[in-house]
Amino acid sequence: MKWNSLALALALSAQNVYGAATPDADEIAKRQFAQAAMMRFECSQLVIERLDPLVQPGVTPSSHLHQIAGGNSFTADMKPVDYDPSKLSTCTSCTFSEDFSNYWTANLYFKARNGTFRRVPQMVNLGLQGKNGGLTVYYIPPYDGKTKVTAFKPGFRMIVGDPMLRTGKNEQKQLCHRCFSNVAQNPFGGAPCTGDDTYTLPTKMCGGGIRATITFPTCWDGKNLDSPDHKSHIAYPSSGSFESTGPCPSSHPVRLPQVMYEVMWDTRPFNDKSLWPEDGSNPFVYSMGDPTGYGWHGDYLFGWKGDALQKALDARCSGDKCSALKTQSAADANKCMKSQDAKEPVEGWLTELPGGMPVTYE
Ligand SMILES: *[C@@H]1O[C@H](CO)[C@@H](O)[C@H](O)[C@H]1NC(C)=O
Repeated sequence: MKWNSLALALALSAQNVYGAATPDADEIAKRQFAQAAMMRFECSQLVIERLDPLVQPGVTPSSHLHQIAGGNSFTADMKPVDYDPSKLSTCTSCTFSEDFSNYWTANLYFKARNGTFRRVPQMVNLGLQGKNGGLTVYYIPPYDGKTKVTAFKPGFRMIVGDPMLRTGKNEQKQLCHRCFSNVAQNPFGGAPCTGDDTYTLPTKMCGGGIRATITFPTCWDGKNLDSPDHKSHIAYPSSGSFESTGPCPSSHPVRLPQVMYEVMWDTRPFNDKSLWPEDGSNPFVYSMGDPTGYGWHGDYLFGWKGDALQKALDARCSGDKCSALKTQSAADANKCMKSQDAKEPVEGWLTELPGGMPVTYE
């Protein structure tokens, strides 16, 4: 697998640099991440619009803008179980053609000196193909190579992050930003939220764009497909980490695969000092009016067909090809798009963020 071998080569070259020195925790995480078998695939953009079936079900438009990928049955109201994306979708924007799940996140905008906003385009991640931005989706099994994980049940959904957050007080450890100096992502930097990654948006120009990651909890209460805050039915391991096979708390005993998103914001068109604020501050702002990055968040709505995901996890599929799964070409995945239900302009220079979201620092 191209990307794995690339990351492995990077990890090995790091090993040579460090020689016989004892690797630190970051270095160990970097090596383990590079060598782990994990599903990693592209889901191109389905639509960009103001819909939020988890937080504001049935509301068109919802308060802030999202980018959505996955099955084209995505809509404002998606009641657990009754509304089954694997049956109602006619296509998916993801590489694995049995995956009709929906993956969505906030959008990033650039705020110009004259106060207008322009959406930051997205790049396809290293080793993957596509043209409509979207995101890279991971399903990660424990690194020990043998511990079993249970696939999500139909109707399952969850959220990580809090769009209202503007400070580090309640830091969400699983939501990070990485400032790449070049598009080759070299140096690579290892697992998300290690090394120089920040909870905030980077404060300097990033020659290779900004990668924003979202890592979901991996323990489930085994009963509820959702919860009022879309978070209490899931939990992080009670000690250690998911990767090190840390135990799940007794309240949430079912071990899930670790779902992770990577979004590659292509900030390069805005890397011009004459466009940035005169005081050199960060000109980027998330669609909920967040210039800090602390409000970065992601939503997940399971929609794999039948037991396809469980089969793929049991087969320890790695990368974006798997003999246990059906795949489609990048061209076909790109073709799967949906028009806005909540129609409004989201591109070009806008006088305000979609929905009129004010930019707030607290
Ligand atoms: C605002 O600034 C941007 C970036 O410099 C520019 O492209 C755009 O035309 C400006 N809009 C107005 C209304 O002046």
